[in-house]
Amino acid sequence: MDRKVAVIGAGNVGASVAQYMAEANLADVVMVDIIEGMPQGKALDLTQAGPIRKYNCSVTGTNKYKDIKGADLVIMTAGLPRKPGMSREDLLNMNADIVGSAAANIKKYAPRAYVIVVSNPLDIMTYHMFKVTGFPANRVCGQAGILDSTRFRAFVAMELGVAMADVQAMVLGGHGDTMVPLPRYTTVAGIPIKELIPNDRIKAISERTRFGGGEIVKLLKKGSAYYAPAAATVEMARSILLDEKRLVPCSAYLTGQYGIKDIYIGVPAVLGAKGVEKVIQLKLAKKELSDLQKSAQKYKGVLKEIGY
Ligand code: APR
Repeated sequence: MDRKVAVIGAGNVGASVAQYMAEANLADVVMVDIIEGMPQGKALDLTQAGPIRKYNCSVTGTNKYKDIKGADLVIMTAGLPRKPGMSREDLLNMNADIVGSAAANIKKYAPRAYVIVVSNPLDIMTYHMFKVTGFPANRVCGQAGILDSTRFRAFVAMELGVAMADVQAMVLGGHGDTMVPLPRYTTVAGIPIKELIPNDRIKAISERTRFGGGEIVKLLKKGSAYYAPAAATVEMARSILLDEKRLVPCSAYLTGQYGIKDIYIGVPAVLGAKGVEKVIQLKLAKKELSDLQKSAQKYKGVLKEIGY
């Protein structure tokens, strides 16, 4: 294939990204992980599924960053989940170290690549990737909004008993408790959900979306969600690799849009061959805008904790 994607971290999210990428025949995939043998083993396993799942791209695994050389796109999934007794600050600093060292290697070995960050805390790690690589802002974005809105879409479809694909949704803000689901911009085949679902149920679905990741962590007991996060990531990768120009919510760098500056946060954006090609400015209601700005304010504080 003439397209190459490097996936940093071959854990649950990384390996699922590799699987979905291969099944869509999007690019040759190389997975990088620090655990010896693990990315190689998963890559071999995925390769052997190829004849049945009908893909022709190559899937390889490595422990060396130099093997990402020539990647058109890098997907950053390495990072630690929180363990009992660990504070959010501990996780923040540990993941910042992991993302920082990956970013330095991406800059060294794949200086022309586009980067999608998935590691948490998402909006913070995306900013960190942007700063350490020094890449232009259009080449670095974070995956969160598609995941949050696909959760919203799934819940709406379940509520109404309609096809998942017919539901479109928009969720803005940080990937966390401060996310801002926008029922106003959520439709089923073009029909606003306000005409289909009573207000109290919309509120309940919005809340479930806001804590959608936490609900899964609680059920799994160890680790966090990976199928939907990986599917959402591959949707973004596809739009960049194939220049589809999808309009999706993603973590993008703001330079004053929505009254917010020098931060990565979830907003609607057009993704194409030039990465984040455009940030769309919606006319938000007062409360929606203040929720988004509150979300940004919170992240400004967190960025300070890692020295920005
Ligand atoms: N370089 C490469 N890989 C690394 C590094 C590093 N410096 N440090 C850790 N890893 C690898 C781990 O060895 C592990 O295989 O990252 C992988 C993470 O995989 P999981 O623990 O299965 O975590 P996962 O569920 O995939 O989540 C990864 O995505 O959604 C977010 O919150 C989640 O930040 C987390 C990330």
